[in-house]
Amino acid sequence: MSPFTRRAFLGATVLGIAGCTAAENPLVLPTDPLVERTETARGGTGRTRAVTLTATEGQIDLGGPVVRTWTYDGVLPGREIRVGAGDLIEARLVNRLPADTSVHWHGPALRNDMDGVPPLTQAAIRPGADFTYRFIAPTPGTYWFHPHTGTQLDRGLYAPLIVEDPAEPGAYDAEWVVVLDDWLDGTGTDPDQVLAGLRKRGGHMMHGASALGGDVAHPHHLINGRVASAPLTFAAKPGQRVRMRLINAGADTAYRVALAGHRMTVTHTDGVPVVPVDTDALVIGMGERYDVLVTLADGVFPLVAVAEGKSGAGLAVVRTGAGTAPVPDVRPAELRGKVVGYDELKATTPLPSRKPDVVHRLELTGGMMSYEWGINGRSDGLQRVRSGQRVRLEFVNTTMMWHPMHLHGHTFQLNGPRKDTAVVLPGQTVACEFDADNPGQWMVHCHNAYHAEAGMMAVLGYEEQR
Ligand code: C2O
Ligand code: CU
Repeated sequence: MSPFTRRAFLGATVLGIAGCTAAENPLVLPTDPLVERTETARGGTGRTRAVTLTATEGQIDLGGPVVRTWTYDGVLPGREIRVGAGDLIEARLVNRLPADTSVHWHGPALRNDMDGVPPLTQAAIRPGADFTYRFIAPTPGTYWFHPHTGTQLDRGLYAPLIVEDPAEPGAYDAEWVVVLDDWLDGTGTDPDQVLAGLRKRGGHMMHGASALGGDVAHPHHLINGRVASAPLTFAAKPGQRVRMRLINAGADTAYRVALAGHRMTVTHTDGVPVVPVDTDALVIGMGERYDVLVTLADGVFPLVAVAEGKSGAGLAVVRTGAGTAPVPDVRPAELRGKVVGYDELKATTPLPSRKPDVVHRLELTGGMMSYEWGINGRSDGLQRVRSGQRVRLEFVNTTMMWHPMHLHGHTFQLNGPRKDTAVVLPGQTVACEFDADNPGQWMVHCHNAYHAEAGMMAVLGYEEQR
């Protein structure tokens, strides 16, 4: 069975057509009134932010290379959605693509029926059709959105979702949203062809000197939709403090990010505040976000995002004064400096410690030869939880590749920070805990678009209490 068929089957299972034996409690489906009740209990500000997103095919200029691809509204990245915590987002997706699509809101603990995962939480949005997502964005943070359909994440369908904290001091003069992306669509291939090739020929790891290589050679690395030879410029004044919100929207690339001549103070991971820590560089896996504060010096400084274990980098330019523009392949010394690890990050509001009620071991399985990836050897596993439980997930990586593992609808506590996406290195075990407080059916999967589509996904399913 192809993963698509398997996933359709999984959808049918979870949606209650099958899969509930006498010994097992029924699952809380996205349509369950409990999902609506949980949303109502979130309260909210009563403010509504209405937007229309048109998913469309067309030409995009990456700053030289012109590609035919799929985007939201013909721009890359898509327009950011910015709201205050507790606001209701009303986002109408109009599908002008030649394929089914969906929008997944990556990070916020939103209502399950708006999570955008066909066929698990909704039916796919057909070409020519539209669907309106309506949900409260409960918690401040740096989030983003993208389709949860096939390999569409590796096209141009992504944009930031910024939820502001009305109570935050805002101790900075400017804010830049920096979206990193590995690009191949419309360069003589597309993501579906790439996946078909990986399946047919098997993949080969591209590691170089790094443990964080990828499976696919992306010809371009973009910052906010621009190739390194035509970088975007961020302008500011010397001495200003800037908050940078870094988002890795790539499909198969971890980025090592540094701003020449500066240290960065990390303030948030995956939207959640941490005790501030200084670093020279950050390594950001697919789906991860970091917020940093930087006090700007006087001059012209490259902001570089090197593709780990690959060749190439994304580039943007920070300009506060006179100076010549950096060359496209500039590699600031900070890239070889200190990289902050998860173990150095501490959530300012950690999850209170408590004995787990349930422990699920998720073995990450598979390999490059047949290009089949899985969780516990399958692509349709179901991990059952119940509302009110403290849940512990243990990601055990038995493969030779690294995997950025993402859980929908929750943030989890690692040993230190709270996140929704965590890098698990080959041979490593990463444990995380969270409270089951958002009923529904939630994906847990690798955020490598090709691994996920080749089967590295499972469902965390709330069951009804009897
Ligand atoms: Cu950003 Cu299930 O994904
Ligand atoms: Cu993976």
